[in-house]
Amino acid sequence: MSQLDLIRALPKAELHVHIEGTFEPELMFAIAKRNQVAIPYQTIEEVKQAYNFHNLQSFLDIYYAGANVLIHEQDFYDLAWAYFEKCQQDNVVHTEMFFDPQTHTVRGIAFETVLNGLVRACDDAKTKLGISSELIMCFLRHLSEEDAIETLQQALPFKDKIIGVGLDSSEVGHPPEKFERVFAQAREAGFLIVAHAGEEGPAEYVWQALDLLKVNRIDHGVRSEEDPVLMQRLAKERMPLTVCPLSNLKLCVVDDMRDHNIKRLLEQGLCVTVNSDDPAYFGGYMNDNFVAIADALNLTEDELKKLAIHSFEASFLNDAEKEKWINQIHAL
Ligand code: ADE
Ligand code: ZN
Repeated sequence: MSQLDLIRALPKAELHVHIEGTFEPELMFAIAKRNQVAIPYQTIEEVKQAYNFHNLQSFLDIYYAGANVLIHEQDFYDLAWAYFEKCQQDNVVHTEMFFDPQTHTVRGIAFETVLNGLVRACDDAKTKLGISSELIMCFLRHLSEEDAIETLQQALPFKDKIIGVGLDSSEVGHPPEKFERVFAQAREAGFLIVAHAGEEGPAEYVWQALDLLKVNRIDHGVRSEEDPVLMQRLAKERMPLTVCPLSNLKLCVVDDMRDHNIKRLLEQGLCVTVNSDDPAYFGGYMNDNFVAIADALNLTEDELKKLAIHSFEASFLNDAEKEKWINQIHAL
């Protein structure tokens, strides 16, 4: 089997994808038109030219602007459904998707409108495509802890539809400690916990995510490598890192894919996984990310299989489901 055939054949779980980051320009134009919302681009080519980022913030500014055209429940459904079709193409059999309620509620869109559209797409993905999914609600860290607490309150009536809470947006200057209390409340309410840490921010933010937020996974975490004691802890606890290679390249976290540390993290015994983050903005979905690192870092068949196995190990699936998918990978 060629390397590309193996990547395609591997069943995979995606654990780090922002549903608003899967918004392809074609769908953005269509929804903007039907909602009669103006967007600052005339053509798809113009949009793609704007997707030239030099850091996280330069991306976030454009990403939040794009999300402004999403208004009705059907818009959120269409957004998620288009992503599930990409999952099917890439043999992503399970996905745990982030959504950013505050991006929408600050514009006057009801929490339920967002959630109902996403949940309906998740239900259809299960019945029509056989893809399982979970939803993780992220707090925007550039906003206040009070705002996050209010968002958590809005989510409580829908607790059964949201498996966890996370932390995203502008990392530097907004450390996990800013949100210690709201994450304690979320844990108390029974949510699982993840947080973006160590993407642009220092290893110290990863320590805080572990010790103060008490995360079940770290999103990104690539800067953990700067702290050998932290690396030992992550390896010992088998704390998953949801790494996003094309994102790291497009946001200049690495200058060249050949410099990406995912292979070294794997070699040091960390439970690293491959993910697409915001695939409509960063040039590729799950398999594109696998291909990019396989080529740049000369990954072996065993390493590719290990990354896919980790995606299930690190997922919030039950043990029987994890075992089922991992056995399929071993059988390849
Ligand atoms: N929101 C969407 N993508 C993000 C990323 N890579 N880091 C932080 N916040 C995000
Ligand atoms: Zn992310």
